[in-house]
Amino acid sequence: MEFSISTEAPETVACDALAVALHDDRRELDGAAARVDRALGGLLGAVIAEERFEAKPARTLVLHTHGKIPARRVIVVGLGPSASVTPETLRQAAGAVVRRAAAMHAAHVAFSPAALPATSVEAVTQARVEGIVLGAYRFTRYKKDESGAVQSVTLLAGGNEQQRHVEEGQKRGVLFADATNFARDLVNEPPNQLPPTRLAEIASEAARKAGLKCSVLDEDAMKALGMGAILSVGAGSDQPPRLIVLEYAPPRARRSVAIVGKGVCYDSGGLNLKHTDLEWMKGDMAGGAAVIATMKTLPALRPPVRVLGIVAAVENMPSGKAVKPGDIVRAMNGKTIEINNTDAEGRVILADALAYAAQDGVDEIIDLATLTGSAMVALGYYAAALLSNDGELASRLLDAAARTGERLWQLPLYDEFLEDMRSQVADLRNSGGRYGGAQKGAIFLREFVNGKSWAHLDIAPTAFLEKDEGTGPYLPKGGTGYGVRTLLTYLSGVA
Ligand code: BES
Ligand code: MN
Ligand code: ZN
Repeated sequence: MEFSISTEAPETVACDALAVALHDDRRELDGAAARVDRALGGLLGAVIAEERFEAKPARTLVLHTHGKIPARRVIVVGLGPSASVTPETLRQAAGAVVRRAAAMHAAHVAFSPAALPATSVEAVTQARVEGIVLGAYRFTRYKKDESGAVQSVTLLAGGNEQQRHVEEGQKRGVLFADATNFARDLVNEPPNQLPPTRLAEIASEAARKAGLKCSVLDEDAMKALGMGAILSVGAGSDQPPRLIVLEYAPPRARRSVAIVGKGVCYDSGGLNLKHTDLEWMKGDMAGGAAVIATMKTLPALRPPVRVLGIVAAVENMPSGKAVKPGDIVRAMNGKTIEINNTDAEGRVILADALAYAAQDGVDEIIDLATLTGSAMVALGYYAAALLSNDGELASRLLDAAARTGERLWQLPLYDEFLEDMRSQVADLRNSGGRYGGAQKGAIFLREFVNGKSWAHLDIAPTAFLEKDEGTGPYLPKGGTGYGVRTLLTYLSGVA
């Protein structure tokens, strides 16, 4: 998608569709809508009234202009009451417009200027551009037909003095949204095309292009480090596991953060074979995808913080070589794990990945994982769960997430949850009964971070949508790329 910025007036810009926004508590048309209405001789106001269009958030109305202005159509988009508009409202409105435009085969769309009190033009523009690029996303790799896509977007700036700020916001918006779409592509890729070795190739290719350090540990290297946990999960598959390690190391880094992703390229459940959700389970590497997408984008944002990106990539399959319920395995930090459910594999691979991160001496560790169905029972499709041993890290992450529109909700990490994760025969067991499943998964992970500041994002609720059921019109079916924008916001803001 091509972007251009212009200071033309909305009613004079030539395009296939011109977007204008409306609040639902206005008395009369204002801003771009008023100017366009005047140029159309009152037609816009008349159609809005006739259609009884309510300017609720992300609702749209289309009007053909029949040559009365250079824009061939006007797309009116609702924003709801003016007092409750946030950057997320604008992001969603932009997503709704671009989808409506694509459905009408409008290739060139212009967006009227937008502003929010107490929000910079950069931030407003970034949010809108994210909505545009995220809303236009479709996974078309395995389809012949690629019609209807919006090809170019003109952002109208409110004046010459705004142009530079719009430009900055546009660049940042494209960066954040492209990174998210990169993660979406990885999640949507079918599992036969994306085994752990292929995920590692893609990561190292991305690292080479972005100028990151990259190393990929194979089974022998993991054996040498004592990573019995990852190896046990990978044992049942013909596809070998990999540990992907990426590093962004700017010259004057003030601190260092590890981001760790669950990269289960396919989760069949193993010998505790799943009987539902099996076609979803190509998306069980969404945490890993978010980590790779974030890492490849850091060099362009240049935050003064060292970031280590770690992805434990495996396939969880049943076979004669598979880990069995009853097996005991030893993780890199020496702790032993009784495998009492092979479908609780995410925490087992993360045990080694977190221990590896902790050993590197980073200041804090953030992991992202599609870890539990329990998090989905608690939150539906509408928020990811946050669990942490550090209240300040947790609130910084909640803050970052809130700015992106990626909903994140904290769950308590009571010590009591550890009781159910103790084993009769090993230090820990990997599954501990139904209740508080997301918390029990998290408390298990805490055993491997060596006391470091750590936060766990259980993204099972938000990583993958089976239909358009998520939190807004820029979220597609399939992989959502959840977490990428929160991580980028957090990492470019903290240091
Ligand atoms: N990948 C799943 C979690 C999941 C389930 C994500 C459904 C998205 C949709 C994970 O590996 C898993 O199977 N978790 C088990 C853990 C249980 C056996 C302790 C779960 O949540 O049922
Ligand atoms: Mn599982
Ligand atoms: Zn899983």
